[in-house]
Amino acid sequence: MRISVIGTGYLGAVHAAGMAELGFEVVGVDLDATKVDSLNRAKMPFYEPDFEPLLEKHVGSRLRFTTDMAEIADADVHFICVGTPQRKNSLAADLTHVDSAVDAMIPFLKDGSLVVGKSTVPVGTAERLAERIEVATPESVSVELAWNPEFLREGFAVEDTLHPDRLVLGVNGDNAESVLREVYARAIADQTPVVVTDLPTAELVKVAANSFLATKISFINAMAEICDVTGADVTALADAIGHDERIGRKFLNAGVGFGGGCLPKDLRAFSARAAELGAGQSVAFLHEMDAINLRRREHVVNLVREHLGALHGRRVAVLGAAFKPNSDDVRDSPALSIAGQLHLAGAQVSVYDPKAMANAAAIFPTLRYAESASAAITGAEAVLHLTEWPEFRELDPVTAGELVATRLVIDGRNLLDRDAYRAAGWTYVGLGRP
Ligand code: UDX
Repeated sequence: MRISVIGTGYLGAVHAAGMAELGFEVVGVDLDATKVDSLNRAKMPFYEPDFEPLLEKHVGSRLRFTTDMAEIADADVHFICVGTPQRKNSLAADLTHVDSAVDAMIPFLKDGSLVVGKSTVPVGTAERLAERIEVATPESVSVELAWNPEFLREGFAVEDTLHPDRLVLGVNGDNAESVLREVYARAIADQTPVVVTDLPTAELVKVAANSFLATKISFINAMAEICDVTGADVTALADAIGHDERIGRKFLNAGVGFGGGCLPKDLRAFSARAAELGAGQSVAFLHEMDAINLRRREHVVNLVREHLGALHGRRVAVLGAAFKPNSDDVRDSPALSIAGQLHLAGAQVSVYDPKAMANAAAIFPTLRYAESASAAITGAEAVLHLTEWPEFRELDPVTAGELVATRLVIDGRNLLDRDAYRAAGWTYVGLGRP
């Protein structure tokens, strides 16, 4: 079986390499020649642990990348992995890339091939695309379309691709389920749940999952707000409610809130799609989840103001720029957003992130980027811990205390050793903690 993967961003590039690892011959297609060139040299165009060794292993043998869509012609299964970002001036998803990818594929689809959507799309998109393919292909060419949402987490993308915790197959024809079971046979164990369903359910599974995760985070952040006005401790609260198996402790870490290329835009696109369908009220609570989330960023800026007074000219160190550790992704990053707000308020902000400096500088060139965590905090009047890279937890509060101008740390992830910081003479401020 030959496989093509259209779109080689975080999802597509890792999926293509994962499919090669499963034993298939794979071609990845992208419009971006620089990205394609980098992938063909087995160099990852973004940071993702364990990804480069997979490229090194398979590029040059069964994995290749191209900008030429014609090269998908001999593939039997085509995965659509293009981005569906938030539209400008609207909450809805921008489907331009999905639509143009499908249009560009159509002339090269052979009879009996299967097109599989993995991109996160508004419910109803798959059926629309199936019709489009049906209308645009000659009668002698029969092509099925399936939807197979992807749940990979950045930082664990290779693991999640090669060992998914569940498979969701939205199918609408006879063949798709057996072909997809064959594709994933080596990635799933006997116990891996496989949910076979229709196209709209498969599309909804993805946005429902991400909305649930976002809601869980915003719920605990709402509790953090209540803790702040009552003197209670949100981390103990999360531990206590998390012991209830029905609730679970995961995704109950209060802090600066969620960011990244998925949760924020999926939540918004889901609201927009539900409103289009006349069911806006059913997910109206998602607007509140988004609002709670954005308030977290403002709250950190206000905390700095509370402690330092007017921000103009004040020196603030920001530890972290990526939206989460083990990633260089700064899309909708709480850390970078807070750094930006402080900078716009006149503070002298010095940012350090182990992997995301280049991406951060590309979208926020006016911030000062330091060469190390120690360089960032030197002379600082406030240190903000905003992305939980392990190296920030390893900073020694005593040594760090000698570098700063004022021993004030705001722990946006509630993960630093509060007692050690206090013992070293720091004012430690957690979020939702006394
Ligand atoms: C998410 C989903 O987890 C994944 O299944 C989907 O395919 C894509 O979206 P990802 O964006 O890589 O994956 O990040 P994730 O690890 O889910 O974290 C999302 C955000 O939530 C991060 O900004 C993280 O810092 C934040 N978060 C997570 C919290 O603030 N608190 C938590 O308890 C957990």
